[in-house]
Amino acid sequence: MSRLADLAARPARVLITEDELRARVTALGEALARDYADRHPVLVGVLKGALLFMADLIRAVSIDLETDFIVLASYGAATRSSGVVKLASDLSHPIEDRDVVIVEDIIDTGRTVSYLKRNLETRRPRSVKICALLDKIERREVEVDIDYLGFTIPNVFVVGYGMDHAGLYRNLPHIATLDSA
Ligand code: IMP
Ligand code: MG
Repeated sequence: MSRLADLAARPARVLITEDELRARVTALGEALARDYADRHPVLVGVLKGALLFMADLIRAVSIDLETDFIVLASYGAATRSSGVVKLASDLSHPIEDRDVVIVEDIIDTGRTVSYLKRNLETRRPRSVKICALLDKIERREVEVDIDYLGFTIPNVFVVGYGMDHAGLYRNLPHIATLDSA
């Protein structure tokens, strides 16, 4: 589907405001700082969706940490996950013996993050935990333990704060529902 054809779907209602995001992300950062003191964790941002969350989160974690990124692509630009995940770009460093925290924008069916967690666990890290901004729990198809969670949201497609629809709206500073009028 072309991007122009998709422009019929526009951000509609604000679901989570900038202030709510800031407060919750700060609390998640403080929890990570407490749990990972002296462990030099590696926070692995899942691009592109976790870009803004990661940027704000790490500023709220007041301990030494490293960052790395992975680019995952699930096929297709539809408003539902195809469940087929492709590793488009890998980490830049080994994670053997490291404490890893996956930083994800949203857990929907759970397929993406469970694929990623299994993939990282084969590299013999000391631990792998999941930090997700949003959980769309009603849609879960694969069981996932989310260790650090921002918000549970209803079964609606959302955009903004890093999340896109057909490549658009990642730059919104808040999270909005998508109106396909
Ligand atoms: P899952 O594999 O179904 O859990 O899908 C997770 C991925 O699908 C997320 O990392 C997002 O990139 C994308 N996704 C799922 N729901 C939404 C949404 O409501 N808005 C934007 N992207 C979404
Ligand atoms: Mg994502």
